[in-house]
Amino acid sequence: MTGPIAIVSALPQELALLRDAAVEATELELVPGMRAWRSRLDGHDVLLAEAGIGKVSSAMIATALILGHRPRLVVFTGVAGGLDPQLSVGDVVIADRLIQHDAGVAMPDGTAVYQAGHLPFFNPTDRLGFESPSDLLARIGSRLEHIELSPIEDRRPHIRFGLILTGDVFVNSADLRGRLHAEFGAAAVEMEGGAVAQVADHLGVPFLVIRALSDLAGAAAPSPEVFDRFLEVASDNSARVVRHLLPVLDEYAE
Ligand code: ADE
Repeated sequence: MTGPIAIVSALPQELALLRDAAVEATELELVPGMRAWRSRLDGHDVLLAEAGIGKVSSAMIATALILGHRPRLVVFTGVAGGLDPQLSVGDVVIADRLIQHDAGVAMPDGTAVYQAGHLPFFNPTDRLGFESPSDLLARIGSRLEHIELSPIEDRRPHIRFGLILTGDVFVNSADLRGRLHAEFGAAAVEMEGGAVAQVADHLGVPFLVIRALSDLAGAAAPSPEVFDRFLEVASDNSARVVRHLLPVLDEYAE
Protein backbone atom coordinates (compact mmCIF):
# COMPACT_ATOMS: atom_id res chain seq x y z
CA MET A 1 0.00 0.00 0.00
CA THR A 2 1.15 3.52 -0.68
CA GLY A 3 -0.95 5.71 1.63
CA PRO A 4 0.31 7.49 4.75
CA ILE A 5 0.63 6.03 8.22
CA ALA A 6 -2.39 7.44 10.06
CA ILE A 7 -1.75 8.40 13.68
CA VAL A 8 -4.86 9.16 15.71
CA SER A 9 -5.29 10.51 19.25
CA ALA A 10 -8.35 11.55 21.22
CA LEU A 11 -6.94 14.74 22.80
CA PRO A 12 -4.64 17.51 21.53
CA GLN A 13 -2.19 16.75 24.38
CA GLU A 14 -1.83 13.18 23.13
CA LEU A 15 -0.81 14.32 19.66
CA ALA A 16 1.26 17.40 20.67
CA LEU A 17 4.75 15.86 20.53
CA LEU A 18 4.15 14.44 17.06
CA ARG A 19 2.53 17.61 15.73
CA ASP A 20 5.48 19.66 17.00
CA ALA A 21 7.97 17.31 15.35
CA ALA A 22 6.11 17.09 12.03
CA VAL A 23 6.90 19.35 9.07
CA GLU A 24 5.08 20.42 5.91
CA ALA A 25 1.69 20.09 7.63
CA THR A 26 -1.40 20.57 5.49
CA GLU A 27 -4.61 20.81 7.50
CA LEU A 28 -7.47 18.57 6.35
CA GLU A 29 -11.07 18.35 7.44
CA LEU A 30 -11.79 14.63 7.41
CA VAL A 31 -14.85 15.01 9.60
CA PRO A 32 -16.32 18.44 10.38
CA GLY A 33 -15.09 19.59 13.79
CA MET A 34 -12.17 17.12 13.92
CA ARG A 35 -8.69 18.32 13.05
CA ALA A 36 -6.20 16.41 10.91
CA TRP A 37 -2.89 17.15 9.19
CA ARG A 38 -1.07 15.40 6.37
CA SER A 39 2.61 15.89 7.31
CA ARG A 40 6.09 14.46 7.19
CA LEU A 41 7.50 13.08 10.40
CA ASP A 42 11.18 12.06 10.40
CA GLY A 43 10.87 11.58 6.64
CA HIS A 44 7.70 9.45 6.85
CA ASP A 45 4.39 10.33 5.21
CA VAL A 46 1.89 10.61 8.10
CA LEU A 47 -1.67 11.73 8.63
CA LEU A 48 -2.16 13.01 12.18
CA ALA A 49 -5.74 13.22 13.43
CA GLU A 50 -7.50 14.36 16.61
CA ALA A 51 -10.63 12.31 17.17
CA GLY A 52 -12.05 13.57 20.47
CA ILE A 53 -13.17 11.26 23.24
CA GLY A 54 -14.98 7.95 22.89
CA LYS A 55 -15.80 5.12 20.52
CA VAL A 56 -18.16 6.97 18.19
CA SER A 57 -15.79 9.88 17.54
CA SER A 58 -12.82 7.62 16.95
CA ALA A 59 -14.86 5.32 14.68
CA MET A 60 -15.98 8.34 12.65
CA ILE A 61 -12.46 9.60 12.09
CA ALA A 62 -11.06 6.13 11.44
CA THR A 63 -13.72 5.53 8.78
CA ALA A 64 -13.17 8.91 7.13
CA LEU A 65 -9.40 8.64 7.08
CA ILE A 66 -9.36 5.08 5.79
CA LEU A 67 -11.92 5.66 3.02
CA GLY A 68 -10.50 9.06 2.08
CA HIS A 69 -6.74 8.42 2.31
CA ARG A 70 -6.19 4.63 2.25
CA PRO A 71 -3.53 4.67 5.01
CA ARG A 72 -1.32 1.59 5.11
CA LEU A 73 -1.56 1.39 8.88
CA VAL A 74 -3.68 3.11 11.53
CA VAL A 75 -1.93 3.80 14.84
CA PHE A 76 -3.65 5.14 17.94
CA THR A 77 -1.47 6.90 20.53
CA GLY A 78 -2.49 8.32 23.88
CA VAL A 79 -3.11 7.58 27.54
CA ALA A 80 -5.02 4.89 29.41
CA GLY A 81 -5.94 3.84 32.93
CA GLY A 82 -3.84 0.99 34.30
CA LEU A 83 -5.66 -2.21 35.31
CA ASP A 84 -2.82 -4.64 35.96
CA PRO A 85 -1.53 -4.09 39.52
CA GLN A 86 2.01 -4.73 38.27
CA LEU A 87 1.92 -1.59 36.12
CA SER A 88 2.54 1.98 37.31
CA VAL A 89 1.63 5.40 35.98
CA GLY A 90 3.86 6.10 32.97
CA ASP A 91 4.22 2.49 31.82
CA VAL A 92 3.42 1.93 28.17
CA VAL A 93 1.11 -0.81 26.89
CA ILE A 94 1.10 -1.88 23.26
CA ALA A 95 -2.16 -3.72 22.56
CA ASP A 96 -1.83 -7.28 21.35
CA ARG A 97 -5.65 -7.40 21.45
CA LEU A 98 -8.48 -4.98 22.14
CA ILE A 99 -11.90 -5.84 23.57
CA GLN A 100 -14.84 -3.47 23.95
CA HIS A 101 -15.76 -4.12 27.58
CA ASP A 102 -19.13 -2.33 27.35
CA ALA A 103 -20.46 -4.50 24.49
CA GLY A 104 -22.56 -7.58 25.18
CA VAL A 105 -25.55 -8.51 27.31
CA ALA A 106 -26.43 -6.67 30.54
CA MET A 107 -27.17 -9.43 33.08
CA PRO A 108 -28.27 -9.06 36.73
CA ASP A 109 -24.66 -9.58 37.85
CA GLY A 110 -23.04 -7.27 35.28
CA THR A 111 -22.21 -7.17 31.57
CA ALA A 112 -21.59 -10.50 29.84
CA VAL A 113 -19.07 -9.06 27.40
CA TYR A 114 -19.46 -10.19 23.79
CA GLN A 115 -17.92 -9.22 20.48
CA ALA A 116 -19.02 -5.71 19.45
CA GLY A 117 -21.59 -5.84 16.66
CA HIS A 118 -22.79 -9.34 17.66
CA LEU A 119 -25.03 -10.96 20.27
CA PRO A 120 -24.78 -14.58 21.47
CA PHE A 121 -28.37 -15.31 20.38
CA PHE A 122 -28.32 -13.25 17.19
CA ASN A 123 -25.43 -13.23 14.77
CA PRO A 124 -23.16 -15.18 17.17
CA THR A 125 -19.39 -15.41 16.70
CA ASP A 126 -16.43 -17.21 18.27
CA ARG A 127 -14.36 -14.06 18.12
CA LEU A 128 -13.77 -11.81 21.12
CA GLY A 129 -11.84 -8.65 20.42
CA PHE A 130 -9.50 -7.53 17.67
CA GLU A 131 -5.97 -8.88 17.53
CA SER A 132 -3.04 -6.76 16.41
CA PRO A 133 -1.03 -8.38 13.60
CA SER A 134 1.42 -10.76 15.31
CA ASP A 135 4.18 -10.26 12.71
CA LEU A 136 4.02 -6.50 13.35
CA LEU A 137 4.26 -7.04 17.13
CA ALA A 138 7.32 -9.26 16.64
CA ARG A 139 9.14 -6.57 14.67
CA ILE A 140 8.21 -3.93 17.23
CA GLY A 141 9.58 -6.06 20.06
CA SER A 142 13.12 -6.00 18.73
CA ARG A 143 13.05 -2.29 17.89
CA LEU A 144 11.97 -1.39 21.44
CA GLU A 145 15.14 -2.68 23.03
CA HIS A 146 16.82 0.69 22.48
CA ILE A 147 14.35 3.37 23.53
CA GLU A 148 14.68 6.01 26.26
CA LEU A 149 11.49 7.28 27.89
CA SER A 150 11.16 10.18 30.35
CA PRO A 151 11.17 9.03 33.97
CA ILE A 152 7.90 9.52 35.82
CA GLU A 153 8.21 10.00 39.59
CA ASP A 154 11.89 8.96 39.32
CA ARG A 155 11.05 5.67 37.65
CA ARG A 156 11.85 4.65 34.09
CA PRO A 157 8.61 3.49 32.45
CA HIS A 158 8.35 -0.11 31.33
CA ILE A 159 6.90 -1.06 27.96
CA ARG A 160 4.91 -4.24 27.46
CA PHE A 161 2.42 -5.92 25.17
CA GLY A 162 -1.00 -6.69 26.60
CA LEU A 163 -4.76 -6.68 26.33
CA ILE A 164 -6.39 -3.25 26.26
CA LEU A 165 -10.08 -2.78 27.04
CA THR A 166 -12.15 -0.03 25.44
CA GLY A 167 -15.48 1.41 26.60
CA ASP A 168 -17.41 4.66 26.67
CA VAL A 169 -16.74 5.21 30.37
CA PHE A 170 -13.82 6.77 32.19
CA VAL A 171 -13.02 4.21 34.88
CA ASN A 172 -12.63 5.76 38.32
CA SER A 173 -13.50 2.77 40.47
CA ALA A 174 -11.23 0.38 42.34
CA ASP A 175 -14.03 -2.19 42.20
CA LEU A 176 -14.57 -2.06 38.41
CA ARG A 177 -10.80 -1.93 37.89
CA GLY A 178 -10.42 -5.14 39.90
CA ARG A 179 -13.26 -6.85 38.02
CA LEU A 180 -11.96 -5.87 34.59
CA HIS A 181 -8.52 -7.14 35.43
CA ALA A 182 -9.82 -10.37 37.00
CA GLU A 183 -12.18 -11.17 34.11
CA PHE A 184 -9.87 -10.42 31.20
CA GLY A 185 -6.32 -10.19 32.59
CA ALA A 186 -6.29 -6.81 30.85
CA ALA A 187 -3.39 -4.41 31.21
CA ALA A 188 -5.20 -1.10 30.60
CA VAL A 189 -8.52 0.55 29.84
CA GLU A 190 -9.30 3.45 27.52
CA MET A 191 -12.13 4.83 25.42
CA GLU A 192 -11.19 4.61 21.72
CA GLY A 193 -8.73 1.89 20.70
CA GLY A 194 -11.21 -0.98 20.32
CA ALA A 195 -13.45 1.14 18.10
CA VAL A 196 -10.57 2.10 15.79
CA ALA A 197 -9.57 -1.58 15.70
CA GLN A 198 -13.12 -2.59 14.74
CA VAL A 199 -13.23 -0.06 11.88
CA ALA A 200 -9.74 -0.94 10.64
CA ASP A 201 -10.51 -4.67 10.83
CA HIS A 202 -13.74 -4.16 8.89
CA LEU A 203 -11.99 -2.13 6.20
CA GLY A 204 -8.97 -4.42 5.99
CA VAL A 205 -6.27 -2.05 7.27
CA PRO A 206 -3.73 -3.14 9.93
CA PHE A 207 -3.86 -1.23 13.23
CA LEU A 208 -1.77 -0.68 16.32
CA VAL A 209 -2.77 0.89 19.67
CA ILE A 210 -0.13 2.32 22.00
CA ARG A 211 -1.05 3.79 25.39
CA ALA A 212 0.91 5.19 28.32
CA LEU A 213 -0.78 5.02 31.71
CA SER A 214 -1.96 8.43 32.92
CA ASP A 215 -3.73 6.96 36.00
CA LEU A 216 -4.68 3.70 37.64
CA ALA A 217 -8.42 3.79 36.93
CA GLY A 218 -9.42 4.60 40.50
CA ALA A 219 -7.01 2.39 42.46
CA ALA A 220 -6.07 4.31 45.64
CA ALA A 221 -6.32 7.92 44.34
CA PRO A 222 -9.26 9.20 42.22
CA SER A 223 -8.31 8.75 38.58
CA PRO A 224 -9.41 12.20 37.21
CA GLU A 225 -6.88 13.95 39.46
CA VAL A 226 -4.07 11.55 38.65
CA PHE A 227 -5.02 11.78 34.96
CA ASP A 228 -4.71 15.60 35.03
CA ARG A 229 -1.31 15.41 36.63
CA PHE A 230 0.22 12.87 34.26
CA LEU A 231 -1.67 13.46 31.01
CA GLU A 232 1.10 15.40 29.31
CA VAL A 233 4.12 13.38 30.32
CA ALA A 234 2.35 10.07 29.64
CA SER A 235 1.05 11.35 26.27
CA ASP A 236 4.58 12.33 25.28
CA ASN A 237 5.98 8.94 26.21
CA SER A 238 3.36 7.15 24.13
CA ALA A 239 4.09 9.48 21.20
CA ARG A 240 7.83 8.89 21.68
CA VAL A 241 7.27 5.15 21.32
CA VAL A 242 5.29 5.73 18.10
CA ARG A 243 8.05 7.97 16.73
CA HIS A 244 10.74 5.47 17.59
CA LEU A 245 8.75 2.73 15.85
CA LEU A 246 8.05 4.69 12.64
CA PRO A 247 10.80 3.05 10.55
CA VAL A 248 9.49 -0.40 11.48
CA LEU A 249 5.88 0.61 10.90
CA ASP A 250 6.70 2.10 7.50
CA GLU A 251 8.65 -1.00 6.46
CA TYR A 252 5.90 -3.33 7.70
CA ALA A 253 3.14 -1.58 5.79
CA GLU A 254 5.10 -1.16 2.52
N1 ADE B 1 -8.00 7.03 29.69
C1 ADE B 1 -7.11 7.42 30.62
N2 ADE B 1 -7.46 7.01 31.82
C2 ADE B 1 -8.63 6.33 31.69
C3 ADE B 1 -9.50 5.68 32.57
N3 ADE B 1 -9.24 5.65 33.89
N4 ADE B 1 -10.62 5.10 32.07
C4 ADE B 1 -10.88 5.14 30.74
N5 ADE B 1 -10.09 5.76 29.86
C5 ADE B 1 -8.97 6.34 30.32
